[in-house]
Amino acid sequence: MRQPAVYVCRPLPGRALDLLRERCAVHVWPDPEIPPPREVLLEAVREAEGLVTLVTERVDETLLAAAPRLRVVSNVAVGYDNVDVAAATRRGVVVTNTPDVLTETTADLAWALLLAAARRVAEADRFTRAGRWKAWGLELLLGQDVYGRTLGVVGMGRIGRAVARRAGGFRMRVLYTSRTRCEEVERELGAEWRALDDLLAEADFVTLHTPLTQETRHLIGRERLRRMKPTAVLVNTARGAVVDEQALVEALRERWIWAAGLDVFEQEPLPPDSPLLSLDNVVLAPHIGSASFTTRARMAEMAAENCLAVLSGRRPPNPVNPEALGGLLP
Ligand code: NAP
Ligand code: GLV
Repeated sequence: MRQPAVYVCRPLPGRALDLLRERCAVHVWPDPEIPPPREVLLEAVREAEGLVTLVTERVDETLLAAAPRLRVVSNVAVGYDNVDVAAATRRGVVVTNTPDVLTETTADLAWALLLAAARRVAEADRFTRAGRWKAWGLELLLGQDVYGRTLGVVGMGRIGRAVARRAGGFRMRVLYTSRTRCEEVERELGAEWRALDDLLAEADFVTLHTPLTQETRHLIGRERLRRMKPTAVLVNTARGAVVDEQALVEALRERWIWAAGLDVFEQEPLPPDSPLLSLDNVVLAPHIGSASFTTRARMAEMAAENCLAVLSGRRPPNPVNPEALGGLLP
């Protein structure tokens, strides 16, 4: 029986590749660290019916036009701002993602960055390794308290809620903003809705959890950073472009805010001349929000399941453009 061709943009952890290979002719880009160059990808998709992508792959009109047989783009991520979903839908290509399974792991990382930025953990590590620790000091590396303070969640979706839930352990007051109010969250977590500008002025810790869309690009810019407290910490595990990074550098340098913890950047990987690299009051991570052994394996398996479902004429578990499903069976 003819097997559909699937191109996979990176080696996948767990059982994902075995699942795909049972039913498809699978080609895998072999380098686990460097994505396939654009020209390689454009050539590779010519015969592909399925494409398994990471956040590093730009799936746009040009790529879709080069892939006339393509039926499914299965993104190994919950965010899909790397995919032109409208263009895929126009061509009847189903786009899928990997929600839920990475929620708790990403929330953990947001908290790791929040605590590290508030208590200067990365800076303290650099200080200790450099042999600069002379004696216990009353004013050595002082930071911000977390317990009992106010957390502001921007984007109270799956990950925003998981981050807010953890705030209970720190007896924090929780404020949130989303376009739609969520009474269940208000009841369950005692969270209070605020307009974004009010949340920024009131919160001691602001954590971002919106998708990157036209509406959220540079949601946190110069004016909004100016509204935050000089003692506030900004955490971004959403997407780099939700924050105007140039304005953030200024805010950190001029101390409009106390510190930031960042997992995502406007340009990834972070360029070696990025001014963020020379600032002590920012904790940096290389987009590792969902990077636990279990979660990454599960994400890859979900992506394989989504891809296989579409290629065998079934509705995939996680479509982001259900309007492209056409006659696929439930
Ligand atoms: P989700 O459940 O869809 O939550 C997103 C939330 O953002 C929704 O509650 C939505 O509520 C809100 N929102 C959307 N537009 C908004 C706006 N303009 N202003 C305020 N709130 C807005 O998604 P999720 O699973 O939590 O994931 C969120 C994002 O995290 C992903 O899209 C991805 O970019 C990022 N992420 C990053 C990592 C990482 O490795 N760092 C890992 C996983 C996810 P309303 O529609 O009511 O506004
Ligand atoms: C990672 O960034 C994701 O969106 O899953």
